[in-house]
Amino acid sequence: MIRASILMVCLGNICRSPLAEGAFRAAANAHGLDLTVDSCGTAAFHIGNAPDPRSIAVASQNGVDISALQARQLCEADFTEFTHIFAMDHENLANIKAVRPAGSTAEIALLMDNVSDREGEAIADPYYGGDDGFADTWEDVTAAAEAFFANLKSA
Ligand code: 4NP
Repeated sequence: MIRASILMVCLGNICRSPLAEGAFRAAANAHGLDLTVDSCGTAAFHIGNAPDPRSIAVASQNGVDISALQARQLCEADFTEFTHIFAMDHENLANIKAVRPAGSTAEIALLMDNVSDREGEAIADPYYGGDDGFADTWEDVTAAAEAFFANLKSA
């Protein structure tokens, strides 16, 4: 039995990490796996808010409903409750590592490190741009989900 629990982390938890959560949930279902998938932000600005309407729209266009998600901030317990913490970009990664407590057991990496030939890549922040950016985010998180579950099955 595969026992991974995955936390997606961006800055605000309203644009990228809710899409990553939705894509990983959908992929886990497609693979018949019952995994814990959650998301949060390093910042507190949007605590309690639903995902950005542009994230909800692009997920919905791809058959995934993320409208009920509520933003929360990364907390100390996340470092032991999750086996994997995936950062959307390098700034998120540095911020996660900066608050990592002693006794942290989670593996911490960039989300795109899961995709061979795309290791070290960031998922660009679409917040200040147009709808195209959200479509790009969906493509990136979907590629990461496909790669993660392929790697998991071959592990
Ligand atoms: P996210 O995008 O980190 O992908 O959720 C952002 C959301 C909000 C802000 C910046 C990025 N903001 O500055 O409020």
